[in-house]
Amino acid sequence: MANKIKGRVQNVLAGGLIAAGLAFATSATAGTIVGSQHDFSGSGWSGGEICIVCHTPHNAATITDAPLWNHAVTTATFTTYTSPSFDGLATIGQPDGSSVLCLSCHDGTVAVDSFGGTTGTTIIPGVANLGTDLSNDHPISFTYDAALAVTDPGLFDPTTTNVTIGVAPKVKTGTINDVMLLSGKLQCASCHDVHNGFTNGPTLLRISNASSALCMACHDK
Ligand code: HEC
Ligand code: HEC
Ligand code: HEC
Ligand code: HEC
Repeated sequence: MANKIKGRVQNVLAGGLIAAGLAFATSATAGTIVGSQHDFSGSGWSGGEICIVCHTPHNAATITDAPLWNHAVTTATFTTYTSPSFDGLATIGQPDGSSVLCLSCHDGTVAVDSFGGTTGTTIIPGVANLGTDLSNDHPISFTYDAALAVTDPGLFDPTTTNVTIGVAPKVKTGTINDVMLLSGKLQCASCHDVHNGFTNGPTLLRISNASSALCMACHDK
């Protein structure tokens, strides 16, 4: 309780300094959302809270794969990834699962501060705005299973290949399927942790991409 009250006071101060727009806390705590790109508690419109922008404990929206969701959801139609050598084409469709939740800020059609039933005005800035054309982004929302790794031998078998995500002391080891895929599909959250829990860096990567380690977790290149 004492911590909570202290947190409130600090957030009120931050809110007073930066009245509108996107404001981030200055010091990140390793391995948590606090101070990360998704900590909007310093923005006046968040009321000084962190989780509420995306989640609510009660009366949440009933959306598939959306954990107690409180943010307005995108209704855009997306251009999906395609290429002659892409073997996931058979199962790729419109973004689904938790990727829809990411795109509900990152496609630039829904304001970051549209949550809890209110419509905001703060559109995500710069390169973080991916737009609705995902044909120039790594494919998402397709099935990555053992069969795909047979069709494309340049991929590791996700059901038998182990990977370790996160940064000590917060790490998780398991198969690609268990720790990176969601219901067998590759999603935004395969590579990123929205809560910065199993990452430690500004792009919220589950595995550092130094020496392309993230890419080589799945691609046998
Ligand atoms: C910017 C949006 C955003 C914020 C802020 C946010 N979350 Fe999430 N959360 C998500 C998304 C998206 C998912 C589903 C994707 C995933 O699990 O990676 C999720 C999933 C979860 C889950 C279920 C899966 C899991 O990781 O265990 C829990 C529990 C959760 N969030 C708790 C919290 C809490 C507690 C806070 C505040 C400290 C918080 N979240 C802040 C976006 C957010
Ligand atoms: C409530 C809106 C919201 C949701 C939902 C959300 N984000 Fe973000 N995200 C932001 C904002 C705002 C930023 C900061 C953009 C900036 O100022 O550069 C950000 C930053 C990021 C960054 C770092 C960008 C950089 O330039 O370093 C990544 C990566 C990211 N988000 C991925 C995700 C993923 C993956 C999900 C879903 C699992 C998600 N986000 C869900 C609003 C959101
Ligand atoms: C296959 C892994 C992978 C997937 C899937 C993925 N990303 Fe990323 N993302 C990355 C990497 C790696 C970077 C860092 C790029 C860099 O530093 O040049 C990144 C960077 C970003 C950034 C920072 C801005 C930029 O363009 O550098 C945002 C925002 C982001 N990703 C959001 C998303 C969202 C939203 C999704 C789902 C629609 C997604 N990512 C899917 C690997 C991925
Ligand atoms: C979680 C596993 C995973 C990670 C991490 C990952 N990829 Fe992929 N990637 C895949 C899968 C699966 C495919 C689909 C391959 C196919 O079906 O042809 C794919 C597709 C691609 C394609 C398109 C292939 C084509 O034929 O059009 C490229 C290029 C690519 N990835 C590059 C990268 C790079 C670069 C990184 C690191 C930034 C990365 N990937 C990280 C799993 C991953």
